[in-house]
Amino acid sequence: MTVAVAAPVVIAQKVELSVDVAKPGAKIDRNIFGQFAEHLGRGVYEGIWVGPDSTIPNTRGIRNDVVAALKALKVPNVRWPGGCFADEYHWRKGIGPQRAVTLNPKWGGVIEPNAFGTHEFMDFLNQIGSDAYLSINVGSGTPQEAAEWLEYMTAAQPTTLAKERAANAHAAPYKVGYLGIGNESWDCGGNMTPDYYLSQLKIYSRFVRNFNPAQQGKQRMLKIAVGPGGGGPEWTDWTEAIMKAWQHRHWSWDIDGLSMHSYTVVRWPPSFPSVGFGETEYSQILRSTLEMEDLVRKHSAIMDKYDPEKKVALVVDEWGAWYAPLPGTNPGFLVQQNSMRDAIVAALNLNIFARHADRVRMANIAQMVNVLQAMIMTDKEKMVLTPTYHVFKMYVPFQDSTLVQVAFDPGSYTHGAISLPRVDAIAAKDPAGKLWLAITNLDPNQPVEIEASLNGMVARSAAGETLTAPNVDSVNTFEVPNAVTPKPIAAKVQGGKLVFRVEPKSVTVISVEP
Ligand code: AHR
Repeated sequence: MTVAVAAPVVIAQKVELSVDVAKPGAKIDRNIFGQFAEHLGRGVYEGIWVGPDSTIPNTRGIRNDVVAALKALKVPNVRWPGGCFADEYHWRKGIGPQRAVTLNPKWGGVIEPNAFGTHEFMDFLNQIGSDAYLSINVGSGTPQEAAEWLEYMTAAQPTTLAKERAANAHAAPYKVGYLGIGNESWDCGGNMTPDYYLSQLKIYSRFVRNFNPAQQGKQRMLKIAVGPGGGGPEWTDWTEAIMKAWQHRHWSWDIDGLSMHSYTVVRWPPSFPSVGFGETEYSQILRSTLEMEDLVRKHSAIMDKYDPEKKVALVVDEWGAWYAPLPGTNPGFLVQQNSMRDAIVAALNLNIFARHADRVRMANIAQMVNVLQAMIMTDKEKMVLTPTYHVFKMYVPFQDSTLVQVAFDPGSYTHGAISLPRVDAIAAKDPAGKLWLAITNLDPNQPVEIEASLNGMVARSAAGETLTAPNVDSVNTFEVPNAVTPKPIAAKVQGGKLVFRVEPKSVTVISVEP
């Protein structure tokens, strides 16, 4: 007897978007695509730095394959050297011909050779074309140590420190775009109360100066204070305390940004696997990542009370998915795989930041290479680009573009007790007048037919790229590096509307020619 098994019915759901090109919003600051490289596991050592004597092709010790891949992302800024590591970092140990060998007690207790220090970091930034976001040591350092680091890096006049920099092969002052004053000072950065941190913040903000003559006016270095790490009362109290103090600030101190850290983790310690999971874990992680929206709203509302002109940016300088360490790896190295699920996580967060572009003007995914939700993974001479990397590359056109309003009913995708929006979308106009649409289909089972009507623009043609994969846990490996890789997609222009189909669990970016 033959039993006929009916194939599951896959019906494309329709979602209509109304894109109001005539109503431009805030600028989507390119800095929301910032990254984070901490001295942690193989993030810096091996991931970026292999040393000039390595057989891995490198330029002055910095691996060429990683530089080439990062250049394509137009990384606007890199936060360094931590993280928790920053509050134990002493910059003098990382300059000059003889480097002190120290330890990295927070991350695996391993040897820190200090081979990658200030000059190597700045060389790396120069090679990838990015700006420095320096995180200074408030926890175990002193204002004098931090002030001297900045003088060493930025003084143009022939001070003893500037001459030492020149002797270390960099006569010209460096440019430091962003200064983070401490890291998680409420926890690994010294377990400070808001009041104690505030007194430190004022001192560091006052005395840690950037002397680079090119950074005295509009190009001045922006200072970022430690902000909240969640949405509970202790975090809203922290934001209140800093912003209230800022409102009543004296001429002698100021900040330009308030940091916020929020990981997609569901529960601590991180226990979700990064490989070999199913739709249940997929939907739980997506629900957790969407909580970023409420968090941004909550802290923005407090900031609005004290800073209605939005002078202080909300800087989400640690975000991303944090899973259980891969079996067999050092748990202190925070090694995890990166799957199609992470591509969706990345797109949803970038969309949230873009929608709040008036307040969220900087963000840094954690982290860049080999650590947490990385762009790139390496194994000695091998390198692979992750699904998250591809999303960042597809989103490059959104850097410094102008947000455009998109209205839509997202529908819903339900799995068990979890119900999520089926679709998410943002739109923006680039400086050349081209319209860009990013659509995420969260539903791992149903494709979606997108019908976008454009107000204020006549579309001639539209095309772009889409990223999807056979499974929610599909990954790129060193053996199969292109399992999750973008493919071209075209849209039809029909009766003035754009019509295209997006696959289940996909991220799509389309450009529309006027
Ligand atoms: O990104 C890993 C760690 O997470 C950072 O060092 C710390 O700031 C946060 O707790």
